[in-house]
Amino acid sequence: SNSKLLIKDGTVVNANHKHLAHVYVEDGIILAVDPHITVGDDVTVIDATGKFVMPGGIDPHTHLEFEFMGTETVDDFFSGQAAALAGGTTMHIDFVIPLNGSLTAGFEAYAKKAKKSCMDYGFHMAITKWDEVVSKEMELMVKEKGINSFKFFMAYKGALMVNDELLLEGFKRCKSLGALAMVHAENGDAVYEGQKRMIELGITGPEGHALSRPAVLEGEATARAIRLAEFVNTPLYVVHVMSIDAMEEIAKARKSGQRVIGEPVVSGLVLDESWLWHPDFETAAKYVMSPPIRKRGHDKALQAALSTGILQLVGTDHCAFNSTQKAFGIEDFRKIPNGVNGIEERMHLVWDTLVESGQISVTDYVRLTSTECAKIFNIYPRKGAILPGSDADIIILNPNSSFEISAKSHHSRLDTNVYEGRRGKGKIEVTVAGGRVVWENNELKVAPGTGRYIEMAPYNYLFDGVDKKDAAYLNYLQAPVKRVKSST
Ligand code: URP
Ligand code: ZN
Ligand code: ZN
Ligand code: ZN
Repeated sequence: SNSKLLIKDGTVVNANHKHLAHVYVEDGIILAVDPHITVGDDVTVIDATGKFVMPGGIDPHTHLEFEFMGTETVDDFFSGQAAALAGGTTMHIDFVIPLNGSLTAGFEAYAKKAKKSCMDYGFHMAITKWDEVVSKEMELMVKEKGINSFKFFMAYKGALMVNDELLLEGFKRCKSLGALAMVHAENGDAVYEGQKRMIELGITGPEGHALSRPAVLEGEATARAIRLAEFVNTPLYVVHVMSIDAMEEIAKARKSGQRVIGEPVVSGLVLDESWLWHPDFETAAKYVMSPPIRKRGHDKALQAALSTGILQLVGTDHCAFNSTQKAFGIEDFRKIPNGVNGIEERMHLVWDTLVESGQISVTDYVRLTSTECAKIFNIYPRKGAILPGSDADIIILNPNSSFEISAKSHHSRLDTNVYEGRRGKGKIEVTVAGGRVVWENNELKVAPGTGRYIEMAPYNYLFDGVDKKDAAYLNYLQAPVKRVKSST
C-alpha cells in the first residue's frame, strides 16, 4: 500500500535550503526528513539518488470548468488536475465567479464542480458588482468558506469589469477582512475603444487582439491599481503580469516599500506575440489570452524580474479552449475565447527556462513554484515545504532526464498545446499527492474525489504592520497645519 512511503537518498529542496536526506511519509503526512531513517518491509521505497525531492507545485492561477465568453473550458476539475499532477503540480487555486451576482451561489456551484477533484485545491473569488449584499457575502466567504483573496477585473467591459469606485470599495473591504485584493490589470474602456478601432480598420484576425490592447494599457491599469491600493493602504496582488510596463510599476512600488505581489504566468515567460500574426487562424487563435502575450523582450524581462525578486511567483492562468471554440472568432478576434493552457507544463518550463539556464537556483525554483504561493495564501508550512508535519505533496525531478510537450501525449483534454514540440532538460518522474504516488513511470494513477478543499485563513503575513501605518497616517492627518503668514 501507499500509506507508508520512503523516498530515499535524494536531495531534498526547500525554499531556503537543500540537503541530502530521506523523506518518510505516513497517511498523507511527512513524518520525517532525515539522512538516517530505516524502515520495515511494509513501506514502499522510492530511490531518488541523483534527483531533487521538492514540494509539489502550487499553481496560484487556474480556470477549470469556467464558463467564459459564451462557452466553457474543456478541462474540468478532474482532467485539469490530472494534467497538473502529471506535470508535478499538486495544488491549484481556482477563481470562483459569482453566479447571477451571488458569491454564495458561485461558491456552491464551484464546490460542486470540484467534487471530482483528484488533488487539493483552494479558491479565490471574483468580485463583479458592488452592493451591501456583496459586502456581507465577502465576510461570509472569509470567515466561513476559507477564501482569503478576491479578484477584481479591470478589463472585460460589459462582462466582468469593475470601475474605480468598485475597486476602492472592494479594496477597503478586503483590508477590513484581512483578505488579499487581486487585480486583472488592463484598462477595459481603452481596450474596448482599441477593439472598435481595429474592426473599423478591417483588422479582424488574432493580430487585432494584440493591437487593440497594447502593453501601455496594462501598465496604466497596474499603476492605477497600485496607487489605489496605496491610498487604501492594503496589499495588492497583480495577476498575470505580461509586460515590462506592468512589471516596472510593481518594481517601483515595491522599492518604495509598498506591499505589491506580481505574478507572471508561464505563457508570458516563454512565448511571444509573433504567434498572433501567424497566417493560419487556428494556430494564431491558440495564443489569444488577456493581457496578450507580448513582443519578444517582455518574456526575458519578466524572467529577469523573477530572478531578481521584483516578481514573486509563477502561475499559469490555465484556461483551455479547443480549436472549435477558438473558431467562434474566425471572423472577429473579439469572439475568440481568451485563454491558454499551462497547468501541466508550468513546472517543466520554469525549470528549463530559469534553472537550467542558470538564472535561478534550485531553492529559488521551489520558492517561485510552491513556497511563496503557500505563504501568500496562508497555507504554509502545511503546503509548500518538505518538513515534518507538512502534507505529503512531493515531486521527484531528474535533472539529467528530459521532457517533451505535445498535445498527443499531454493529459489535458485540450486538442492543442501552445507549447507544442518544446523539449528541455529536467523531468518530473514522480508525483506524490496527499501521500499517494499518482505519477510514476509516465503513468497516472488518479481517482475522482481524492482531492480536498484547502481552506485559507485570513490575515497573512502581508498584513503585518498595516495597522501601524494606518495609525501613522491618521496622526499625520490630525496634526495641526502650520500656516506661514505671507510677508508681502
Ligand atoms: O485570457 C485569460 N486570461 N483568460 C482567463 C480569464 C482571466 O482574465 O484570467
Ligand atoms: Zn540525522
Ligand atoms: Zn485575468
Ligand atoms: Zn485568469
